Amino acid sequence: MIGAAPEGVSDLETTGHAVREMFTSIAPRYDLLNHLLSFNVDRLWWRRAARSFASILSRPNARVLDLCCGTGDMTFALLRQARTSSARILGVDFSHAMLQRAREKSRGTPLHWIEADALTLPFTDAQFDLITAAFGFRNLADYDAGLREIVRLLKSGGECGILDFGEPKGPLGRVYRIYFKRVLPVIGTVVSGVRGPYAYLPASVERFPHPDAMLDRMRGAGFREASWTPYTFGIAGLYRGCK
Ligand SMILES: C[S@@+](CC[C@H](N)C(=O)[O-])C[C@H]1O[C@@H](n2cnc3c(N)ncnc32)[C@H](O)[C@@H]1O
Repeated sequence: MIGAAPEGVSDLETTGHAVREMFTSIAPRYDLLNHLLSFNVDRLWWRRAARSFASILSRPNARVLDLCCGTGDMTFALLRQARTSSARILGVDFSHAMLQRAREKSRGTPLHWIEADALTLPFTDAQFDLITAAFGFRNLADYDAGLREIVRLLKSGGECGILDFGEPKGPLGRVYRIYFKRVLPVIGTVVSGVRGPYAYLPASVERFPHPDAMLDRMRGAGFREASWTPYTFGIAGLYRGCK
């Protein structure tokens, strides 16, 4: 089994618990820190990922699930891309505090929010045309179980998009690593007032399978046409697959 491993935890249940507590503790400052630490590039990534699924999102009555939605910024990008279509878009997260912020931000929109674990989702099989996860999949306690759950919930022909951090190579990669491993944890800790989560972030990216390995896992879980598109020199990237 390979998945997230916050410090001091070893099994599936305690990992999920530790991850949930971690995000709950930073929920009040999560949006601010996201934009600050990414120099606002995060907005471009969400928008670009949503644009990749324009054809599904423009379908009338498309059913869309945004996993690990946090405070909802990927979910909002999906809604903006869906424009006038009557796509039904649901955000799921297991941190109550993160979802509460998503709810506050989404008043007056047709978005729906559900509190649930991405590894055991409360939906019957083959319901969704599109399932996304932005910067959340990496935090699952078991990546293969997460992929299997996505495959279970997609309709035949449905698509999945996993947006997450990568490790850029070359000279830019070296400079970026200094920022990501040394500077970002300090700013994150000071602004959030919580020790831990912003040191866990670079560690979790380092642990996450590299693109080739992740694509193999996706194929193994039953995805066709698995692909990875780097964003901003590979600092982030979008995994796509079709059921
Ligand atoms: C880094 S945040 C990403 C939030 C949002 N998608 C974004 O792009 O800003 C990761 C989110 O994943 C959620 N998460 C992690 N593991 C989860 C799981 N097993 N089930 C549901 N949500 C989970 C956390 O609670 C957190 O809100």
